Amino acid sequence: MDLQSLIRDIPDFPKPGIMFRDITTLLRDPAGLRYTIDTLAEKTESLGAECIVGMESRGFIVGAPLAYKLDVGFIPVRKPGKLPGEVHSIEYELEYGMDCLEVHQDALKPGTRVLIVDDLIATGGTAGATAKLVQQIGCQLVGFGFIIELRDLQGRDRLPDVPIVTLVEY
Ligand code: PRP
Ligand code: ADE
Repeated sequence: MDLQSLIRDIPDFPKPGIMFRDITTLLRDPAGLRYTIDTLAEKTESLGAECIVGMESRGFIVGAPLAYKLDVGFIPVRKPGKLPGEVHSIEYELEYGMDCLEVHQDALKPGTRVLIVDDLIATGGTAGATAKLVQQIGCQLVGFGFIIELRDLQGRDRLPDVPIVTLVEY
């Protein structure tokens, strides 16, 4: 299936010069959505993940159905102040300034085999910080899954050396 034809390009969003790759048009297409999740599942199944970690907010849309399909649990990584229990946090650099991600302390146990999933990798800042967070807990990171990779930004160079599954490249 030609997934790229279902992804809408919106120039100058959220800032001038950015070509926004909008997955809402893919998500609303039943065959496209099914193909996306089924293909990510086929390509990541052999990694033997025991849980999926997905980042707020578009990582939830991809990660939760993938976890269902792989018959494992889903762990949300959220922006600060959203999770009600005790959290582990990690700060990371954005293009301008800093941001922070959090996960519940009791959600992940050392040694757990984790697959990190998001809709898109751009600079790799978000996925790289999430990897550090799960590795600091002592989890075994088995790979990453993304629908979209923006190759020019070389985000994969910021990730640890584990398999990276992507479906559409720009
Ligand atoms: C987007 C996207 C990834 C991240 C990728 O999320 O969903 O999480 O940016 O960029 P990076 O590789 O440069 O870190 P965004 O922060 O826009 O939040 P959203 O999912 O809530 O829209
Ligand atoms: N997140 C970071 N860069 C993006 C882009 N170009 N399109 C959609 N989401 C993004």
